[in-house]
This record gives sequence, C-alpha cells and structure tokens, in this order.
Amino acid sequence: MGAEGRELILAITGASGVAIGVRLVEVLVERGEAVHLVISSGAETVIRQETGRAIGDLKALATFYHSPHDLAAPLASGSYVSPNVRAMVVAPCSMKTVAAIASGFAENLIGRAADVILKEGKRLVLVPRESPLNVIHLENLLRLARVGVAIVPPTPPFYQRPSTVPELLDQIVGRILDQVGIHTDLTRRWSGHP
Ligand SMILES: Cc1cc2nc3c(=O)[nH]c(=O)nc-3n(C[C@H](O)[C@H](O)[C@H](O)COP(=O)(O)O)c2cc1C
Repeated sequence: MGAEGRELILAITGASGVAIGVRLVEVLVERGEAVHLVISSGAETVIRQETGRAIGDLKALATFYHSPHDLAAPLASGSYVSPNVRAMVVAPCSMKTVAAIASGFAENLIGRAADVILKEGKRLVLVPRESPLNVIHLENLLRLARVGVAIVPPTPPFYQRPSTVPELLDQIVGRILDQVGIHTDLTRRWSGHP
C-alpha cells in the first residue's frame, strides 16, 4: 500500500446523511489537513434537502474544490495522486457511486479518483448509505471489500448512548477518520466494562 502523501480526497455523493460529509470537511480543515473536496450533483440536491448549508460556503471551506465533471483535475491522474494523496473517503456514498467504483466506471471525477486511488494502492474508505440493501448493493460492496476497500456504514455505536444528532454524527465521523489513520477525540472509546 502506498502510504506516502499528505493530502486527502473527500467526496460527498447523493445519499442521505450528507451532514456526515459536511462534518468531515469541517473537522479535517480545523485540523489543518489538505482536503480535495468533490461534491456530486446528486449530493447538491441532498445537501439542499437535508441541511441549511450554503453549498458555495462548503466548497470554499475546503483546501481545494473540484467539479465532479472535471476529469482533467489532478485527482484524475496517478502521477499526481501517487506522491501527494494519502487516502480517499466517500461519505456518504450512494449505491450509484458504489456501483461505479465496483465496476471501474470512471465517468465522473469521483469514480475516476477512486479508480486511481485503487490502482495506486492507496486507502479507499466508503460510507455507503441505503436501506434496505438489495443483493446488487451487497455484491458490489463485497467486491470492493475484497480488494481492500474499507466499508464503513454510518451506524453509530449506541452503547456510547449519544443523546443529540451532532453527538451521533461525531461518533460516526470519528470512526471514519480512524480508518484513514486520523485518530481524534470525537469518538468516545470503549475502555472495558462500564
Ligand atoms: C433526498 C434524496 C435522498 C437520497 N438518498 C439516497 C440514499 O440514501 N442512498 C442512495 O444510494 N441514493 C439516494 N438517493 C438517490 C441518489 O441521489 C441518486 O441515485 C444519484 O444518482 C446518486 O448520484 P451520485 O452518486 O453521483 O451522487 C437520494 C436522492 C435524494 C434526492
């Protein structure tokens, strides 16, 4: 696995739970991480539906913003990704984007960047959201897990008794960041019997 590179790619796609992607941008930027953000057209619709967030403000928050249609962005090339990028997170990840990545259908920058991450041997973390899952969804996720992709469904640890939505989101975000080697205090960690 190519562990070198400091930058992170974060893609937000059009599944429910876009607040997870939004919180990830905030936390990563607060920590001084260099973040390449890509927001799919589907995600823009869901961001408008689920949050009061101005999409322009969100794009401005990231270190770099790339249009999902820009297949000439640096992220589309292994020659950029190999030395510069450590990992890619797709949160939340729609079943359409799961299918695109599982089949190498690199029609937009999110699918292409994920394809590049895999061919360059880098860490890919997907936060798939759909319910219930059908056999096609499950087969696509299994195919990805088999090539080393981390599949991190946005399921909070209820044994930590989160009592507010922001707290619940932070538990999920902390678990996602653990998967790219960024260990925060967002997640309350189990230390044995209560
Ligand atoms: C409000 C809303 C919620 C949605 N939630 C989901 C979801 O949870 N999971 C999913 O796979 N698709 C969901 N979709 C459908 C996707 O947005 C749609 O399949 C889209 O083409 C995904 O494209 P993208 O992956 O490029 O963003 C939702 C759509 C809307 C409008």
